[in-house]
This record gives sequence, C-alpha cells and structure tokens, in this order.
Amino acid sequence: MNKEKTRIGVLVSGGGTNLQALIDAEAAGIIRSGTIAAVISNNPDAYALKRAQNAGIKTFVIPRATPGDREVFERRLAETLDENGIELIVLAGFMCILSAQFTDARPGRIINVHPSLIPSFCGKGYYGLRVHEEALKRGVKVTGATVHFVNSIPDGGEIIFQKAVGVLPDDTPESLQLRVMREAEWKILPEAAEKVSESIQKEKNA
Ligand code: GAR
Repeated sequence: MNKEKTRIGVLVSGGGTNLQALIDAEAAGIIRSGTIAAVISNNPDAYALKRAQNAGIKTFVIPRATPGDREVFERRLAETLDENGIELIVLAGFMCILSAQFTDARPGRIINVHPSLIPSFCGKGYYGLRVHEEALKRGVKVTGATVHFVNSIPDGGEIIFQKAVGVLPDDTPESLQLRVMREAEWKILPEAAEKVSESIQKEKNA
C-alpha cells in the first residue's frame, strides 16, 4: 500500500506565524499524513521565507506587482506547484485572491485560514489587521478564526474548523489579532492541514 505523505505547498505573503505553526506541527507529529514540500510567496521580503529556509523547506518567490498580473502569476504558480508535486495548497496569510479558474481546477485541494468567525468580517477587503479593526468597531464580544476550503467566492468555501475567542474590553486590533492567532489560528490550521492531508492520502491509497 502506498503510504506516501500528502505533499503540502504553503502560500504566504508576510510574517508567516501560521507557517511556523504548520512547521512546528509537522515536527511535533500533529501533521503526520502530510509534509510541507514547498513555501511560495508573492512578496520577496516576506519573513515567512526565512522561517521556511530555517526549517530546510524549499522556497519560491513569484512576485505579483499589479492586480493585472494575475494570469501570469497563476501560470507560474501552477507550474511551481506541479514541479514540486504539490497535492494540497495551504493559504497561510496569503494576501492575494485566486481566480475562479485556478480554484475551480482544484476542488477540495486548497484551504485557507481567516481571522474571524465566517460569515462575519470576511470576503473581499477583509484581511489581516483590518478584520480585527472592523470586529472592534462593530463591538462584537466573540470573534475567532476559521479554516475553510477555497472556492471561487472569497472566504466562501466549506468550513472545516472554527474556534471562538473572546474580545476583551481594552482590546486593540493588535492585541486581538495576537490572541486570535495564539488561541485559534495556530491550532486549527495545523489540525485542518492534517485532516485534509489524511483524506488525500486515503484517496491515493483507495
Ligand atoms: C493571519 O491572521 C491570517 O489569518 C490573516 O493574515 C494573518 C497573517 O499572519 N489572513 C487573512 O486575513 C486572509 N484573508 P501570518 O503571516 O503571521 O501567518
């Protein structure tokens, strides 16, 4: 029986704390059905690249200067994924929206972490710190994070895991972001990566 691990490609744009959580989870055996085989960034200055290099993971930079570059970007992205045999794409703080053409070609093979309880504070324009600013403005008392499959609707795919986090009276967008990461994102993203890796591995062996 083919017990080969699911090859995971992680797409990043910035600091890469979620990537670090994935790297640590693989080292700890929380991710055991998959292996991080490549890290791809649209931003050459992303600290996430350094985290990948420190862990001995292959890195690739595919810059995307303007929104009009999407076609070229996605062609190069698809080539890089294919050349590295990637079977599961994990968006971990990846700040570009992928086209319907790209997502429709990979159903059930792309997951994303979003820093709110979808369907609140999600969709186009809701990313990073902005999500927490809006949550505080609206005065919600509970927020959290969601890991979901990626389809052609931004943040619209099937939900895999969610975890709630309480908002404190003196929270700033920054303090809330950090707590949502610590208590929710860094836990549910590796758990979801394992769950989907395991199902892909089973599919390969069926
Ligand atoms: C994370 O909070 C992630 O959920 C969010 O950006 C941050 C990236 O941090 N992603 C989005 O908002 C996507 N819509 P990281 O680079 O340290 O993982």
